[in-house]
Amino acid sequence: MTGLDPETIRKDFPILSRTVRNGKPLVYLDSGATSQHPVQVLDAEREYYERHNAAAHRGAHLLGEEATSIYEDARAKVAGFIGAEAQEVVFTKSATEAINLVAFSLTGSIKPGDEILISELEHHANLVPWQQLCLRTGATLRWFTSLPDGRIDVDPSLITERTKIVAVTGQSNVTGVIPPVADIAALAHEAGALVLCDAAQSVPHHPVDVKALDVDFLAFSGHKMLGPLGLGVLYGKYDQLDALPPFLTGGSMIEVVRMEETTFLPPPAKFEPGVPAVSLAAGLGAAVDYLTALGMDNVAAHEESLAAHALGALGEIPGVRIIGPVTTEDRGGTVAFEVEGVHAHDVGQVLDELGIAIRTGHHCAWPLHRALSCQASNRASFYVYNTHSEVDQLAEGVRYAKQFFGV
Ligand SMILES: Cc1ncc(COP(=O)(O)O)c(C=O)c1O
Repeated sequence: MTGLDPETIRKDFPILSRTVRNGKPLVYLDSGATSQHPVQVLDAEREYYERHNAAAHRGAHLLGEEATSIYEDARAKVAGFIGAEAQEVVFTKSATEAINLVAFSLTGSIKPGDEILISELEHHANLVPWQQLCLRTGATLRWFTSLPDGRIDVDPSLITERTKIVAVTGQSNVTGVIPPVADIAALAHEAGALVLCDAAQSVPHHPVDVKALDVDFLAFSGHKMLGPLGLGVLYGKYDQLDALPPFLTGGSMIEVVRMEETTFLPPPAKFEPGVPAVSLAAGLGAAVDYLTALGMDNVAAHEESLAAHALGALGEIPGVRIIGPVTTEDRGGTVAFEVEGVHAHDVGQVLDELGIAIRTGHHCAWPLHRALSCQASNRASFYVYNTHSEVDQLAEGVRYAKQFFGV
């Protein structure tokens, strides 16, 4: 028993009461891809458009002032949620853009012979931008390999004086593995390297404190934590943000513009050109309020109990292989699995016919799938509104899929 009551929570999520294929109730087990939204978030966005819509940080009128304060309030809420200061929170389009921002802005400070260290667990969003940085600069990409159970083999010898940045996931989007980010950060800092944590799967699911992790940068997406699509967050230690040149440039991020040259505002404005996405920020602020009211320890405990249930229920089906750890130790509520003799896409299709939405494929983590000898997996990812009965339906659905394909 955990401190969350998913049945009560579900009443806040209109989409969860709709039916899907064959008139089946929706069993949404794909929150790792994107989460659903409570009415509190939808209302915050609607209220913004109905009463306050204006271009924030501009205009001499009341609406502009209100939009600015809604936007900045949201920034302060997000900062509080991760233990940061408001000026250390940059709004981006997504976690992907946040990571690209750092990778692009570091270009001028990386040279041939330098090394960028990542892990084999990474989502492509925390892999491809570093490959591209290496191509631009002549630096070399290195990585911690994954162990057979999907955990990171943290080999300290890979961190040397050549290492300029270590970028690791806070939680694997495939296996749910939670790597020892604080330990990795300590090793990296000893060697003088910067540290970025891809927290797209961790900030939504368990308490994250940037000061305790002691990372220099941390990236996540609002849409995976009950917030709107289209708004991401880059946390950066203020001095690190201050030291980076801007990424995207234009209006709102400037101090003085002359035809010959431009100077820039301090962070976070330096990284937020253009008219801010205030409705999205209003929604994300409401999502932070919602999660805070539930309590992130409760969120993590609820997901752990669902993961334990799923690992047991799926693990006892003959021919089902769990991809990743089979215990809940240092792992979140994401469970990937293969069904012997049935391609993941076929499993996904049969489950879809039953109203059960999961993700199938390589989940933008192709190298990890290769490392774990898995071409494509099925992934169920849980969140605050999922129930134990849905886990049972998933397991029953997998048994039915096996029967359907005669394996
Ligand atoms: C671990 C991880 N990192 C980064 C991302 C990218 O997030 P977004 O597509 O919102 O930029 C995802 C999305 O699935 C993810 O799971």
